[in-house]
Amino acid sequence: MAAFKTLDQVDVAGRRVLVRLDLNVPMKDGRVTDATRIERAAPTVRELAGKGAKVIVASHYGRPKGRRDPEMSLSPLVDPLSAAVGRKVAFAADCVGPDAEAVVDGLADGGVALLENLRFHAGEEANDPEFADALAALCDLYVDDAFSASHRAHASIDGVARRRPAYAGRLMQAELEALSRALESPARPVAAVVGGAKVSTKLELLGNLVEKVDILAIGGGMANTFLHAQGVEIGRSLAERDLADTARAILAKAESRGCEILLALDAVVADTLAAGVATAVVGVDAVPADRMILDVGPATVAAMAERLAACRTLVWNGPLGAFETAPFDAGTTALARAAAELTDQGRLLTVAGGGDTVAALAHAGVLERFSYVSTAGGAFLEWLEGKELPGVAVLRA
Ligand code: 3PG
Ligand code: MG
Repeated sequence: MAAFKTLDQVDVAGRRVLVRLDLNVPMKDGRVTDATRIERAAPTVRELAGKGAKVIVASHYGRPKGRRDPEMSLSPLVDPLSAAVGRKVAFAADCVGPDAEAVVDGLADGGVALLENLRFHAGEEANDPEFADALAALCDLYVDDAFSASHRAHASIDGVARRRPAYAGRLMQAELEALSRALESPARPVAAVVGGAKVSTKLELLGNLVEKVDILAIGGGMANTFLHAQGVEIGRSLAERDLADTARAILAKAESRGCEILLALDAVVADTLAAGVATAVVGVDAVPADRMILDVGPATVAAMAERLAACRTLVWNGPLGAFETAPFDAGTTALARAAAELTDQGRLLTVAGGGDTVAALAHAGVLERFSYVSTAGGAFLEWLEGKELPGVAVLRA
């Protein structure tokens, strides 16, 4: 892994530092409903301010497509951000131009300002040179702490980083170190658990993982496609039956690479996906034609957990069953707890990410027990696909 510069390599006192955060947080009625991204980014802002920098925070929010949409203003984040960084944050009603310049000019050393939504300007997503120049004009140094937006080659991620000395913030640094220990140079054997509804959204990811991991456990609706491809009767289960050839190609690639694939041995089946329906545990060779598979069964969890116990690294993305509806959360929860137990014992490094994954691990109560849980959704998936993330590449350049 080519090196990137961190905050240990720069003296920020008295300097204007533009910090790219991902404040694209869930909000309802103008209130933040999950402050995880704010809390995880706050240490970088606190550190910079504590070292006497003038800190200029920039972020996108939603997808306003270059239009000023009051519904997508970052102003509701001033108070939560102030609370998280322990200082009153100033707000600039535009992210470039006279409004932004006036607020930045007014910053004392150790002061923090938040700029309005970057995506109110079309130049942000277009990585437009003039827009990048305008952002760069606000600062002397650039810090990227938005790993979860690093799959976007936008002006605030790519353009500014090319115009000013660029550093990884502490959250970016932690993400990159965790991801590197998980897949780039992992302790082996390394396993991956991949779940979720559809194979079609994770083809590249599976293709990349079978080249990199020793064991790949597949669950969720996408596992049904693999079972079907192997000639297993899956009844009325959700599956992409037209992708049977693709699934078989992935299995063949895994075999040629020496990657062991783990699929369900047993399954929890029901008539329909709803809370409180009658369920049964059946062997995968005995799924009734009128039922659907909604979770992996206990024998599958036990077999997967046993294989994990022999591994030293685990990457996890996606739930094993329809975890949002009890009791179809049981398989995901049980395997997540087994992984957490191995992590507690110091036997397994566990790295997880992706939107649904974080919700599933939170539901299982193991978020704090995994070695590292990424704040990223799409960026984590692209990293699992083996793609170079523009926001990471530019820091390594
Ligand atoms: C995210 O929430 O995944 C990031 O903030 C990226 O947002 P985007 O998908 O709108 O670029
Ligand atoms: Mg997204």
